[in-house]
Amino acid sequence: MSVAVEAQGLTRTFGGGRTLFGGRHPAVHAVQSADLTVRTGETLGVVGESGCGKSTLARMLVGLDRPTKGTIRLEGRDATELAGRDPRALAKHIQYVFQDPVASLNPRKTIRQTLEAPMRRLRGLDARAREARLAELMQVVSLREEFLDRYPHEFSGGQAQRIGIARALAADARVIVLDEPVSALDVSVQAQVLNLLDRLKHEFGLTYIFISHDLSVIESVCDRVAVMYFGRIVEVGAARELYAHPRHPYTALLMRSAPTPGKRRIDAEEKPAELPDPLNPPPGCAFASRCPRADAKCREARPPLEPVAVGAIDAAETDGQRAACWHPLLDGASSDNK
Ligand SMILES: Nc1ncnc2c1ncn2[C@@H]1O[C@H](COP(=O)(O)OP(=O)(O)O)[C@@H](O)[C@H]1O
Ligand SMILES: [Mg+2]
Repeated sequence: MSVAVEAQGLTRTFGGGRTLFGGRHPAVHAVQSADLTVRTGETLGVVGESGCGKSTLARMLVGLDRPTKGTIRLEGRDATELAGRDPRALAKHIQYVFQDPVASLNPRKTIRQTLEAPMRRLRGLDARAREARLAELMQVVSLREEFLDRYPHEFSGGQAQRIGIARALAADARVIVLDEPVSALDVSVQAQVLNLLDRLKHEFGLTYIFISHDLSVIESVCDRVAVMYFGRIVEVGAARELYAHPRHPYTALLMRSAPTPGKRRIDAEEKPAELPDPLNPPPGCAFASRCPRADAKCREARPPLEPVAVGAIDAAETDGQRAACWHPLLDGASSDNK
């Protein structure tokens, strides 16, 4: 198994600087001590509620933001060191596709200018090579070549996201971080863009980190899934395993909240979610205040992300499914009974 991206102890706090009077401003703990391994060629899903730190994690992985602590290795090389030596080196390896496709494109640049920039800057292609590559890229994302000389506002959301994807491909990076790539699109268009992403992945041997708050989208596209809660990864495992047997009560809650055809939607938001204060994270498990299984230990000590061994099935057989929970769900059902 070769590893495309490996993050260790990745942490990002915002604020927390000194005040004029010698105290400290409160700090937002956006991502806390995240460990993540992305295997070459896989699609790793990252799922969690809005505000749990998904975009912050993604931005650090692609070098748009610097970790407060922790390391990122890209195909075995230290990403921070790589970025420090040559900011373009990182962009050749890993690219980012944004949630809001129209806003992520420069309104003053034609699609041609937008797509040519990485070809020139990162790949050093001459005019002729760029022309050929432009035609090829438009074809792979199923857009007409005549669109090249238009501006972003002339496109629908789905078309703009195809351009965003083409821009990520233009750098020839093999790892692409997709941050809620279909969340802003109409449902009918979502499927088209997901199909396109799947086709491109196989055609070009890409590795995806696919971020979404929507568990059903994640399930349809991911090999493995990492569940985030309040800045931390609380469960990770093979998608099939994780969906069949969620071990963390939060994963089970997310699944019960997901709409399924013919079933009434039990929304996670029905009960007001008591999210902890990001300025003042609790000492124990951040989910304890919402968790039906929580006891005193959960409120005092933070559970580590550890393999969950279930009866005769050991962790190796469950493809390393791990959960950060003192009382994981071991019966496989998403019941809340201990
Ligand atoms: N630049 C920033 N400055 C201050 N706080 C931020 C910044 N970016 C994100 N945050 C905070 O970090 C937390 C995680 O945000 P984000 O990574 O955008 O979550 P998600 O993508 O899962 O919705 C939130 O509490 C958010 O308000
Ligand atoms: Mg986000």
